[in-house]
Amino acid sequence: MENVMTLEQIQEAASAIRSHISHQPEIAMILGSGLGSLADMVENPVLIPYGSIPHFPQSTVQGHSGQFVVGTLNGRQVMIMQGRVHFYEGYSPNEITFPIRVMKLLGIETLVVTNAAGGINRAFNAGELMLIDDHINFLGMAGFHPLRGRNEEELGPRFPDMSQAYDRQLKELTRAKARQLGIPLHEGIYCCLSGPTFETPAELRFLQAMGADAVGMSTAPEVTVARHMNMRVLGISSITNITSLDGEHKASHEEVMAYGKQVAIHLKELLLHLVPEL
Ligand code: HPA
Repeated sequence: MENVMTLEQIQEAASAIRSHISHQPEIAMILGSGLGSLADMVENPVLIPYGSIPHFPQSTVQGHSGQFVVGTLNGRQVMIMQGRVHFYEGYSPNEITFPIRVMKLLGIETLVVTNAAGGINRAFNAGELMLIDDHINFLGMAGFHPLRGRNEEELGPRFPDMSQAYDRQLKELTRAKARQLGIPLHEGIYCCLSGPTFETPAELRFLQAMGADAVGMSTAPEVTVARHMNMRVLGISSITNITSLDGEHKASHEEVMAYGKQVAIHLKELLLHLVPEL
């Protein structure tokens, strides 16, 4: 059932990327829907389209352009994923997380994940940011787990701990930086669903009762795999829409993209100032 990537395929992809870059990247960042413009801040960027990397999954969604942008950001060597692939595109959880495996083999120990998410918490407004305190991997809980299948002991343990999926020190640093810059930053639980449908009002009320503050279609698989390999993770959601618990407001990809662009301004500033301290 699963399409499982092999260690050899991960190594081949890592060597292909290594042949394009002259510096060792230190920090990886994944940019979510509408947030791709953050990559414009990178100095002396080397662009590596996913299509040129062996075994790499190709993004098919509008708003996810599908390339690595490698270069310097505020003095640090970064590797930015401009676009990601999702479960709903037809990829297995193992394929979705292939890029995270490759990052680790390239020597990266810190991962910053961003995403677009629908706000469930009624204190949130569209256009605001949420620091991901923890996640509910609904997809994984339903059996679509990126670690299903043979475990590569060289990469991580069979039964990884997930008690601190999001690094406490990175969260503290982010809170402090947002405060200093005057950027409003909520905090909450991100719930990952498969998509591609937006949620029914009944599903949203269920997620709310379960303790979710925001909902989206990504991130939890990538974070799970990063933690399997003991990478430090920071997660930030852009609240691109407020979900309709009573069915009075229709969700759309256009709204997600439009608010994504608006939130990107704050997110860019926050990440730019965070990077030297990560
Ligand atoms: N639901 C699921 N995923 C999303 C949403 C949403 O409301 N907004 C952005 N991604």
